[in-house]
Amino acid sequence: MTTVCAAAYDDMVLQVAVGAAAGFALARALARQRSRAAPSDGGDGEARGDGGVRDGGDDDKDAARNAAAGSKKPVVVYMDGCFDCMHYGHANALRQAKACGDVLIVGVVNDAEIKRCKGPPVCDEAERIEMVQACKWVDGVIGDVPYEVTDEFTDELFAKHGVDYVVHGDDPCLLPDGTDAYAYPKRIGRYKEIKRTEGVSTTDILGRLLRVGRKAAGETLEAAEVKEATFCTTSSRIAQFGSRTSVPVDGKVVYVSGAFDVFNRGHVEILRKAKELGDFVLVGVHTDADVRARCGDEHPVLNEKERALSVLSCRYADEVVIGAPAKITNDLLTTFNVSIVVAEDEDEYLIDGEDVNALAKARGLYRVVERAHGASVAGVAQKIMANRAEFEARNARKAKSESAYYATKKTVAET
Ligand code: CTP
Repeated sequence: MTTVCAAAYDDMVLQVAVGAAAGFALARALARQRSRAAPSDGGDGEARGDGGVRDGGDDDKDAARNAAAGSKKPVVVYMDGCFDCMHYGHANALRQAKACGDVLIVGVVNDAEIKRCKGPPVCDEAERIEMVQACKWVDGVIGDVPYEVTDEFTDELFAKHGVDYVVHGDDPCLLPDGTDAYAYPKRIGRYKEIKRTEGVSTTDILGRLLRVGRKAAGETLEAAEVKEATFCTTSSRIAQFGSRTSVPVDGKVVYVSGAFDVFNRGHVEILRKAKELGDFVLVGVHTDADVRARCGDEHPVLNEKERALSVLSCRYADEVVIGAPAKITNDLLTTFNVSIVVAEDEDEYLIDGEDVNALAKARGLYRVVERAHGASVAGVAQKIMANRAEFEARNARKAKSESAYYATKKTVAET
């Protein structure tokens, strides 16, 4: 390893990078972050440079307690992984990891290691790092970490990065030789386990994308191959991910809407740009029916609740309308006090012959931002199809271990 990339907590992460085993520096940084965030409900808050608008959602009561006291080293937790096709299951793992301590540092495994141990990644390391950094529960990212968590590497995490606990999901993580990847931190009592999120995985999303690619290539799928999403969206999950603040009546609300299917760096980029334009980013996630009508029968790859959770996990999104109207309405603009409507030029389309953004344009609220990344669902599906044999082999292997996990899975309490 490795570079530590600052997420929102620039000064704090910098100190992690230079070896904040001396936790008091971290405590002070965290306390500064807290006071800048000005939480309104006595809970959490992130420094976002937005005049105290909080994204809410993270559950770090211990952080507030530790940092406010200023006398105790914040608990630094570390989670590593591939985070390929970053999904709301990964985000939920990071949310739970953050709740195990005060500061969350995430290690992102490099491309060569993933290829060697799991098969080819869909997204390269730069993109995977960008996606992890965009997650609102992440304080810092270490890139280029090994897949095999050796004792030496773990000691380096403890000594150089001030890590107190290593965290992983309750699914077994075995090294190629069949031994437990986290045996060392477990043995010395510095390991914490969180609940793996059911019904979603990179393997599952990759399978869905393969089906999109095959359909686009003119293949007919067998009925048995068409799988419904199995994730159960509960109200508590939405609450855990969601904002604890309502849309401000006196702030500048920026509205962005779209499918946000297979959440990617292009989505993060437009949300980040939206955030720069105002105080509060409200995201409209279109219904499955609207996305299907616009993009074709194989879309969306993720249903609207899954897509909404991914958006909610992003640090630049403050609130989400789940199942927003594709055509902007007067009521939507008024109800949510929208000052600016942001779209990429590619988002311009008609429904029943009418421009979906017509009202925003007529009211002078419309801003077009440039698309920074060419990321699209079709593009990812094409990339997978170009290396189809490798991805299918990867999925067949992973599907086996996932089935074994589900076959023996027990109820695990969520952090
Ligand atoms: N994780 C989780 N729930 C999921 C998927 C992943 O809690 N549905 C957790 C894993 O347990 C791990 C972290 O997210 O602690 C990173 O996982 P990663 O290394 O990216 O890969 P996998 O565990 O193989 O998961 P996936 O196939 O979805 O990438």
